[in-house]
Amino acid sequence: MTAAHGYRTPARLLHWSIAAAVVLMIPAGLVMTQDGLPRSLGDGLFLFHKNMGVLLIPLIVWRILYRLMHPPPPLPPQIPAWQRAAAGASHLLLYALLVVMPLSGFIRVRAGGFPIELLDRLGLGPWLAKSPTLAARAEALHYVAAMLLIAVLAVHVAAALHHALIRHDGVWRRIWPPWRARD
Ligand code: HEM
Ligand code: HEM
Repeated sequence: MTAAHGYRTPARLLHWSIAAAVVLMIPAGLVMTQDGLPRSLGDGLFLFHKNMGVLLIPLIVWRILYRLMHPPPPLPPQIPAWQRAAAGASHLLLYALLVVMPLSGFIRVRAGGFPIELLDRLGLGPWLAKSPTLAARAEALHYVAAMLLIAVLAVHVAAALHHALIRHDGVWRRIWPPWRARD
């Protein structure tokens, strides 16, 4: 497979659908935790954040399994070794954060004794007993992992834009558009 072919369509669709959700969930999480919000806005953002977060879990599991079964195509040969290593390490970290974020959020909410409306409607859960200690630990982990995710994503997006707008080296076209023209 040549570099021009890039990622397969399922990998692209999974990347961009999860990216769109995460890009909405981060500001929702940051805003909903501010003091003094109108009640309806805070409640609406919490509803969106928690339920979108649990909906992402099956997509993330599918993405990781698909990735294990389909290694990515080789990078263009001119990419230097340090950039290959940086891309590999940051992608691994992003996958790890995609596991830690929804799990810590889920534990924080369930151990805190709060609803997850979608799962409650389906009669699923709560799966965890109420525990203020566990809820506090999960909350701290969710916060630290969120800050790390924001930092790694800033570098990830900057690198993607650098390849797309300055280098024109084919890296951007490996994953954009969200489906591959020739499969
Ligand atoms: C929203 C703006 C985003 C842009 C512009 C973007 C861009 C890209 C590009 C160009 C690649 C291909 C890199 C390569 O060919 O090696 C890529 C891969 C990847 N992106 Fe993003 N991305 C974005 C958001 C995200 C988000 C939100 C996440 C996860 C939280 C994410 C996780 C990943 C991972 C894990 C890979 C590696 C795929 C693999 O090789 O398995 N990206 N991204
Ligand atoms: C990819 C998935 C997720 C991302 C990127 C994400 C991101 C964030 C961010 C940026 C914040 C604000 C920083 C903080 O206060 O921790 C936050 C807070 C929060 N998130 Fe998430 N989150 C995700 C999944 C979830 C899930 C699945 C749930 C619950 C079902 C959840 C529940 C919460 C709660 C309750 C807070 C407020 C924490 C508090 O101060 O008590 N999150 N999230």
